[in-house]
Amino acid sequence: MKYAELANAGVHEQPVYEPGKPIEYVAQEYGLDPTQIAKLASNENPFGPSPKAMAAAQMALKTAHLYPDGSCCQLRSAIAELRGVGEDALIIGNGSNEIIELLGHAFLRPGLEVVMGAQAFIVYKLITKLFGATPVEVPMVDFGHDLKAMRAAVTERTRLLFVASPNNPTGVANSEAELIELAESLPEHVILCLDEAYAEYLEQAPDLRAQVHAGCKVFCMRTFSKIYGLGGLRVGYGYGAPELIQLLQRVRQPFNVNAVAQAAATSALKDDAFVQMCRSENESGRACLVAGLEAIGYPTLGGQANFVLSNVGDGTAFFQALQQRGLIVRPLAPYGMAAYVRITIGTEAENLRLLDVAREVAQNTGVSA
Ligand SMILES: Cc1ncc(COP(=O)(O)O)c(C=O)c1O
Repeated sequence: MKYAELANAGVHEQPVYEPGKPIEYVAQEYGLDPTQIAKLASNENPFGPSPKAMAAAQMALKTAHLYPDGSCCQLRSAIAELRGVGEDALIIGNGSNEIIELLGHAFLRPGLEVVMGAQAFIVYKLITKLFGATPVEVPMVDFGHDLKAMRAAVTERTRLLFVASPNNPTGVANSEAELIELAESLPEHVILCLDEAYAEYLEQAPDLRAQVHAGCKVFCMRTFSKIYGLGGLRVGYGYGAPELIQLLQRVRQPFNVNAVAQAAATSALKDDAFVQMCRSENESGRACLVAGLEAIGYPTLGGQANFVLSNVGDGTAFFQALQQRGLIVRPLAPYGMAAYVRITIGTEAENLRLLDVAREVAQNTGVSA
């Protein structure tokens, strides 16, 4: 008997997430020097981890023979202090991806529905399908979540409604007022899952703490993979009612966040100067990329996160042309946006190099502003 015959129903239909190719792989494939490759494909922080986080990670390695703190006490306490929330209102995950999966473990099963934007972060759909539930994809307006249409898509079977703000891959954010309106309008059997992976790039992130306190079913998620530069260590957290957090704690692995990651994240949170520097560099990088790509002739949406969205005609061809020249961006055909690429905002040097290469590709393909 084949393994495939032994597998659970649904495994065969489960879509597979396609991550951006690692630098070493691209270097080998194209005969390039890995140190000359810029990866602008996965919305990572081009400035790396903060020096304080790296020092804390080094220290933590010395006790790597011990299991980590299964309750992430220090990290939870640091987040609680920074965000002005109770420690019992927080759960830490192996990246916020794991937290999305925990929501599935706790709340999803066949017959139930999850409402999401049609071009929202793809993991919402993957997790929904993993638990046999049905994704309900709501068309977006001007690349942003249409919260009224999402509210209208809620049925008796809906359990979760995901809004990423700013959204990946489009970069568009919803306002605090409209998020609050949505939170307050949802029926009791639906949890609004607000994914704030890029919230630190906003001038002022929406604050739904009052709604959580008032008993609205709102759950907010954040990550250390973006502005804190710790994508490789896998740490994220969720904030919500203690009753919800207790349920999520039940369905996680006992030691889901490793010790090095906990130490690095705790220190990264306290390195405000690094966060400020990344935010301000990101702002100027965005302006540089938008102006440069528009000047070449590619309509570009700057968004409010750490990437821009550009209409390059054929996203896959553009991606391949750049990859051969040592620049990795993300083609958006899997999101139904075949004309687009998503470009992570890099360092100043990386942004300028991307524009040089994009100009050359545009000339070869006859694009002009
Ligand atoms: C909207 C959104 N949510 C969550 C994540 C996942 O973050 P993590 O690295 O914490 O799993 C990403 C990563 O790109 C994202 O874009």
